[in-house]
Amino acid sequence: MKSVMSFPERGKWGDSRWRGNCSGHVIRELVEHFRPQTFVDACEGSGTSGDVCRELGVQYVGLDLHKGNDFTRDFVLAALPWEQGADVAFSHPPYHSMIQYSGNVYPVVDGNDTSKCADID
Ligand SMILES: C[S@@+](CC[C@H](N)C(=O)[O-])C[C@H]1O[C@@H](n2cnc3c(N)ncnc32)[C@H](O)[C@@H]1O
Repeated sequence: MKSVMSFPERGKWGDSRWRGNCSGHVIRELVEHFRPQTFVDACEGSGTSGDVCRELGVQYVGLDLHKGNDFTRDFVLAALPWEQGADVAFSHPPYHSMIQYSGNVYPVVDGNDTSKCADID
């Protein structure tokens, strides 16, 4: 695995229409490097990491504000069905206010949308 990754196309995983989505090739590199049995994504967005994990046979839990999971308030470990934590915990949070999620990419939900923070601090 490389610390800087670049791919000519994003691949078939997730949904390219989800603003700010990431390439499944990134997730694939992580899985192939760390060989996890379990994987949690705290900001799964369109579900890119879930698609890759299913394809590679990795147990997966995907959380996101649009599903009612708020990482600023909820304990991620409490959402896992396994006794131990996950082997890989991944998150791809918003790019500060560049793309606003609730009320834009999906209807407004209750919680702390971190794409609407007042400032970077
Ligand atoms: C950059 S997108 C993730 C895209 C994803 N990796 C994909 O490929 O589709 C950031 C995500 O963070 C989520 N988010 C923002 N604030 C959150 C919060 N407090 N708790 C959980 N998710 C949050 C947004 O709903 C959005 O889906």
